[in-house]
Amino acid sequence: MNIPSLPPAALEKIRSSKNITAITGAGISQESGIPTFRGAGGFWKNYKAEELATPEAFSKNPNLVWEWYDWRRDLCLKAEPNPGHLTLAKWESHATSFHLITQNVDGLHVRAGSKQLKQIHGNIFTTRCTKCEDLRPIETSGRDSFCRKCDSPLRPHILWFGEMYDTTLLQSCYEIASRSEVILIIGTSANVSVPASMAEEAIRRGALSIEINPETTSLSGSVDYCLQGKSGEILPKFFYDIYESK
Ligand code: APR
Ligand code: ZN
Repeated sequence: MNIPSLPPAALEKIRSSKNITAITGAGISQESGIPTFRGAGGFWKNYKAEELATPEAFSKNPNLVWEWYDWRRDLCLKAEPNPGHLTLAKWESHATSFHLITQNVDGLHVRAGSKQLKQIHGNIFTTRCTKCEDLRPIETSGRDSFCRKCDSPLRPHILWFGEMYDTTLLQSCYEIASRSEVILIIGTSANVSVPASMAEEAIRRGALSIEINPETTSLSGSVDYCLQGKSGEILPKFFYDIYESK
C-alpha cells in the first residue's frame, strides 16, 4: 500500500520547526470505530447530530438528548485510541511546542496521552450544571442527573450548535494558531467555521499547512499539501519520515 508523504524539503522544514499545531475532527477517531458526524453512520434513531446537539432539543426533550449522549459515551468508552491519536501524543516530546486543538469530545486524545490539548467542543465524559455550571467527570458506574451542589438538572459539557465558544479558550487557540510554523488539519470536514478559521489564521500567517483526509474539504484548496488517506495510516509514517528515518 502506498502511503502518501511530503517532499524532503517540507519534511526538513517540519523537523526544524519549533511551533507545531494540529487541529483534529471526527475523522481521526473513525478508525477507532466512532462514526463521523457528516459521514455514513452519523445518524442515531434517524436523528442527525444537528437535531440533537442543540439547546432547543435539550429543553424540548432532555431525556432523548441524554439517551443519545449515553449511547455515544458508551461507544467512546469501548473505543481505543488508534495510531493517529498515539502519534499526535508522541509528537509533544519531539517539537519544542506542539499543541493539539480538537473538535472531538470522545476523550481519545486524552487517553492517548496528549497533554497540550484544547477540547474546544467539550468532553462527553463531563457533566455541567444548567444553573451553577459546576463541572464533574462522569463515573463509569453511572451518571448523576442532578447537580450535587444546587440540585439543578445536569447537561453534557458539550458545545452545542448555536452556542457561544468560551472566549478565553478561543483566544488561546487563535494565539496558538497564529504563532504556528506548521499546521496539520486532520480528519475534519472544516464545516464548522470557528475551527476552520483557526486553521486559516495559521495559513494566513505563513504556516506550512498540511491536510490529512481521505476526502477533499473546503480547506483543501488553501493548504500547501493534501495527504489523502486515513490519518491512522498516514500519521505514523509521516512522523517516522520527519523524526525517525535518519
Ligand atoms: N482519517 C482521516 N479523516 C477521515 C477519516 C479517516 N480515517 N475518515 C473520515 N475522515 C474525514 C471525512 O472525510 C470528513 O472530512 O473526517 C471528516 C469528518 O467530518 P465531520 O463528520 O464533519 O466532522 P468534524 O469536522 O469533526 O465536525 C465538526 O461538527 O457536529 C459538529 O461539534 C461537532 O465537532 C463536530 C463538528
Ligand atoms: Zn449546580
